[in-house]
Amino acid sequence: MPHAANHRDSVPYWAMDFALTQEHDLIRESAYKFGQNEILPGLRERDREAKSDRATLDKMGKAGLLGLSIPAKYGGSDTDYISLGIACEELERADTSARVVMSVHSGLHCMTILQWGTEEQKQRWLPKLASGEHVGAFGLTEPNAGSDAANITTTAVKDGDHYVVNGSKTWISLADYADQFLVITKLSGSSAKAPYAAFIVDRNTAGFSSRALHGKLGVRAGNTGEIFFQDMRVPADCLLGKEGDGFKVAMSALDHGRYTVASGSVGIITACLDACVPYANDRKVGGEPIGKKQLVQQMIASMVQGREIGRLLYYKVGWMKNTGQRHTRECSLAKWTNCAAAFDAANKAVEIHGAYGYIDEFPVERYFRNSRGAMIYEGTHEIHTLMQAEYELGYRSDKPLAHMLPTYPFEG
Ligand code: CAA
Repeated sequence: MPHAANHRDSVPYWAMDFALTQEHDLIRESAYKFGQNEILPGLRERDREAKSDRATLDKMGKAGLLGLSIPAKYGGSDTDYISLGIACEELERADTSARVVMSVHSGLHCMTILQWGTEEQKQRWLPKLASGEHVGAFGLTEPNAGSDAANITTTAVKDGDHYVVNGSKTWISLADYADQFLVITKLSGSSAKAPYAAFIVDRNTAGFSSRALHGKLGVRAGNTGEIFFQDMRVPADCLLGKEGDGFKVAMSALDHGRYTVASGSVGIITACLDACVPYANDRKVGGEPIGKKQLVQQMIASMVQGREIGRLLYYKVGWMKNTGQRHTRECSLAKWTNCAAAFDAANKAVEIHGAYGYIDEFPVERYFRNSRGAMIYEGTHEIHTLMQAEYELGYRSDKPLAHMLPTYPFEG
């Protein structure tokens, strides 16, 4: 039976209003300059040697990037949610590793605290996160629970005014660098219908450890690893939401993480155009630039199409966040569409560069490797395909959520 709670097919187009402002232009420009000046220098070597760098996070904090879309009363920049998308787009235009920092820190971690935290918790955690003094990350995936997120086995057991957590998480971006983690667990001995709980875990907690993963195809200048919890005692006031809310906290975190991945993917397409347009104008075959060849033009046109559709899709999601509408469905669509478009653009960029697309003297082979990952993390291509079909068929609920992000402009 189709889901009775599916309250709409889609947001009415007449209601949309995401006119960009001068502030958005300034954020775009400063994130672009940050990428050019702070991320690109030395990147090829860091990527070759798979060397991540904690100093980049400090620079991002100093540049104000880590406080985007956090209200001023918690020390943030007080910018709207579209600003976060624009910054992700421009950072990923330089390198995916920089955008991943925004995804896990701003998207998965800070915005989830903003959505689910008590006032005391927001006051406790957000100011340090907004300034970059602390960097946040996210721990959901386990060796045997990726797409099947409900199958996690990391446990939390209540013990007085603490929870004792045991288990491990894998594929954790910033595993070695983040100061605090949003960790999703299963509650042992709970009678809750969905026995999950989410905690903010300080990396200095006894029983916490991390280890880097090596040999990745892409995002080599970024840190990815595993985190382990051995009889780790987490204070009860670090529970985000209530006991039983953990799975919903995880899914809503993904609404924010996927948004940053969708917007970042547009940056890869722009980077492909940045590389391909001059190359196609300079490189000559038979006495004329390859840009004059229709098959090359077709590939350039397809990248332009992906960039423009991608922007509209993520602006729409940003607007829905600003106006307090549930956007799980639209965010999944944007993530699914934009990641595929970025991978397609990067593949075409390699094609246009010919043999030069196959060596790291040119950046397009990095775009090709980096864009592949985004079709796996934060919901595989297949998961989003299924979600889109299930929404349309009425098999998946789209009802408004009890806990929403604060709308923009932020109050007080
Ligand atoms: N916000 C809040 N609540 C939500 C929600 C959201 N976005 N989405 C669902 N929920 C709620 C539902 O309302 C439901 O609650 P009720 O029972 O009260 O109605 C409950 O959560 C269960 O929802 P579903 O029935 O939709 O759950 P499901 O089991 O069908 O979900 C799935 C299946 C969509 C495939 C989900 O498991 C999924 O998204 N899997 C992919 C996980 C993923 O993306 N992992 C990547 C992790 S991050 C990463 O890659 C690493 C990193 O470091 C960045």
